[in-house]
Amino acid sequence: MSETMTAAPKPKPDGKEGSGALEMRDTRTGASYSVPVLEEGVEGDTYIRGAELRQVKLGKDEFGLMSYDPAFMNTASCKSAITFIDGDKGILRYRGYPIEQLAEGATFLEVAWLLRHGELPTQEQYNKWVRDITYHTYVHENVKSFLQGFRYDAHPMSMLCSSVAALSSFYPQAKNIFDPDERYISIIRLLAKLPTLAAFSYRHVKGLPFIYPDNDLPYTENFLSMIARMSEPKYQANPVFVKALEILFILHADHEQNCSTSAVRAVGSSHVDPFSAIAAGIAALFGPLHGGANEQVLRMISQIEHPKNIPAFIESVKGGKGGSRLMGFGHRVYKSYDPRARIVKQLADEVFSQVGMDKDLEIALELERIALSDDYFIQRKLYPNVDFYTGLIYRSMAFPTDFFTVLFAVARTAGWLAQWEEMLLDKEQKIARPRQIYIGPGERPYQGTLTDKHARPGKRTDGIR
Ligand code: CMC
Repeated sequence: MSETMTAAPKPKPDGKEGSGALEMRDTRTGASYSVPVLEEGVEGDTYIRGAELRQVKLGKDEFGLMSYDPAFMNTASCKSAITFIDGDKGILRYRGYPIEQLAEGATFLEVAWLLRHGELPTQEQYNKWVRDITYHTYVHENVKSFLQGFRYDAHPMSMLCSSVAALSSFYPQAKNIFDPDERYISIIRLLAKLPTLAAFSYRHVKGLPFIYPDNDLPYTENFLSMIARMSEPKYQANPVFVKALEILFILHADHEQNCSTSAVRAVGSSHVDPFSAIAAGIAALFGPLHGGANEQVLRMISQIEHPKNIPAFIESVKGGKGGSRLMGFGHRVYKSYDPRARIVKQLADEVFSQVGMDKDLEIALELERIALSDDYFIQRKLYPNVDFYTGLIYRSMAFPTDFFTVLFAVARTAGWLAQWEEMLLDKEQKIARPRQIYIGPGERPYQGTLTDKHARPGKRTDGIR
């Protein structure tokens, strides 16, 4: 299996020095330090190397100063050439290409190639990429048996996460992650099999027979065929749904160092096989603050029931009652309108004009209108994110609510894989291992109080040894 990697522009080994220095004085010792301020990237990001702080110490045996940054609010964990976000301006680009242009003209598999290789594919490269992915869409028959072992009401994200992790047992050679051919075939397998596993999870929950991939169909049509085909010999997907899904897959394909991508990088940094690393990403995506938000948006809207209940609901969110949040609003990075949300909103109009208005669209629009004019949301720069309208589109396509995050996972696999490989090939990366500030008790002697049958021999008081 040979493959040519297009030479992506390599990030420089380190930022350019000489743009300045950070002068610090430690008032404990009176010592002064000068740390170079580095500048790098198209937007001229400035940073200092965290390890520079280590020189700030009281004695030579001390570990040195750490920076404490829970949730990585101000810590860059890597240098990446894949995705660019400007959260204040609402800009998202994959490898320099604006998301709006990719959503308008690219295919999902073209974007998957772009994310991995850094450049758009030639026709020949694209044909091979699609051919290889199409060839690997089938899963081992045993996968069907263990999917059938799940309860009838299993969450499809649990099924997807477990079945992707299980794939590592079918491809033990995938652990050879520094062999470019093994990496290539694992990437192909993951992109190819995710839709199959997702569709099988869907069919299991519905109690329907699994539908094998139809390799005459393009990626998205094949996915819809595995989801919806019944007795017809050839599945004809609704072209409006195909277009919508292709665009939604592109919008979800990558989003730089979010929770699930960081999980994939962290787990992958242990040099485990990519199936296990991607399963970790799926687990992270499942959470309601991340990919699970699209599911929660619809649950929230059904709970609101009627536009007349919105003001009371908004008040309860502002009061933080029960820790409730306006799901589909807010983002760690975007402090203006999420550019993906803008595209999704437009897409929703197109889909609804074909298949009829979603019954809850009125609530969603009114919720957005009120939230965007409310001081609480304005002051905190809380705008609709990508998940606010995706659920309504997915529902109009007849996907069940708990399947929405699975759709997100299928698309994000492209980004996770590109980020995983970038991390592996980055000479500066090592096993992810943050430090901690230990705040537990100091040393104390062990004086166990257990005496019953679970106690260690010699400690028991019932005479039995
Ligand atoms: N509804 C109400 N208040 C909110 C919300 C919200 N959706 N999001 C943030 N806030 C408030 C929060 O209570 C805090 O207020 P205060 O300063 O008074 O304590 C302030 O805004 C800052 O919030 P934060 O929790 O510090 O912000 P964060 O950057 O840690 O969280 C977030 C980002 C996406 C987790 C959060 O906005 C949220 O929980 N949103 C709802 C869930 C959601 O839609 N998630 C999908 C994200 S986009 C897709 C993806 O990447 O997965």
